Amino acid sequence: MDFFQTTVSKKAISLAKKTLESSFVSAGKVSIQFEKEFQKQIGVRNAVSLNSGTSSLHLGLHLMNLKKGDEVILPAQTFLASGLAILMTGATPVFCDIEYLSGNICIKSLEKKITSRTKAIMPIHYGGLPADLGEINKIAKQNKLKVIEDAAHALGSTYKEKPIGSISDFTAFSFQAIKQVTAGDGGALCCKKISDYKRAKRLRWFGIDREASKVSILGERVFEVDELGFKYHMNDLAASLALGNLSNYSSRLKRVRSIASKYTESLKGVPGVQLLETKHDRESSYWLYTLLVDNRENFIKKMLSNGIPVSVVHQGIDRLKIFNGKIKSHINQRKFDNNQICIPIHSGLTNNDVDRVIGAVKEGW
Ligand SMILES: Cc1ncc(COP(=O)(O)O)c(C=O)c1O
Repeated sequence: MDFFQTTVSKKAISLAKKTLESSFVSAGKVSIQFEKEFQKQIGVRNAVSLNSGTSSLHLGLHLMNLKKGDEVILPAQTFLASGLAILMTGATPVFCDIEYLSGNICIKSLEKKITSRTKAIMPIHYGGLPADLGEINKIAKQNKLKVIEDAAHALGSTYKEKPIGSISDFTAFSFQAIKQVTAGDGGALCCKKISDYKRAKRLRWFGIDREASKVSILGERVFEVDELGFKYHMNDLAASLALGNLSNYSSRLKRVRSIASKYTESLKGVPGVQLLETKHDRESSYWLYTLLVDNRENFIKKMLSNGIPVSVVHQGIDRLKIFNGKIKSHINQRKFDNNQICIPIHSGLTNNDVDRVIGAVKEGW
């Protein structure tokens, strides 16, 4: 049994082969087709395909015109990349606490961290469960802040029946190797405002409008650049994989959600296990299924001895030196760091695998 599974569909392989045989692997028709399909199937808007989730976060933050001294508030229960993307702009990441029972940003703690230097909020949808976007966007509006959602875990998640990627100023997705839809590496930035969308499309490719800059008789594109750009575009080979893997995502997501329901039903009330909250107004993509357990080390040993891989996946990043590593006061984050553990969840698990996981947890440790 694998903890994560890199799923590459037959369609992805055949599309990638077709692209390789076409001898055009740079950003072209397939990446545009992927953006259209991504918008249609997931319900996101103004999607710009990029080469990683990290570049999607950075580009979104860059579009806010942040400068040194500006602050962006985020929870620490995430991967390092969320904080690094803020540092890349020159701004300072400011960590707030999480809710112990969801791993998502705590609204009260967020409110306390807002200062005159705050420019944006970056909620992370931990494990795929959407953060409280209604409250977050309300607070952002009251304080004239931007919101950029880190949706690396939340492909296909919904909040109040709206797809993640259709709600806030910016939403960043990841199509990295172990994400539910992989491009090998890839990402997408969804923008609320058309002006941001157009600027993102230019800045992902050095500041050049790739679609509008035609090649002249001299053999070079005709372009003018008036703003710093990046090399962040998704190429057609990656887009072929993403497009092919997106094609069966809805059925894989259905399977993952049914495994999550089985875990939730079966593990409720097991001594030493606290389940994370499910919320009636949002649906998780269940990239992770996290338990809060007593005696975590014993739990890990028990699961491993039964051939069941488990992992913490992400521990609070506020401990890291790059972020000064001095925040100790987030009670829920520290408790979460000590007790959380993720059990396998992906569409490659058989019913037998799921039963084995449940059985091993129920036996105790
Ligand atoms: C929460 C979170 N944000 C951002 C990233 C970065 O995405 P990528 O690896 O595609 O750059 C990841 C994972 O890789 C992640 O888990």
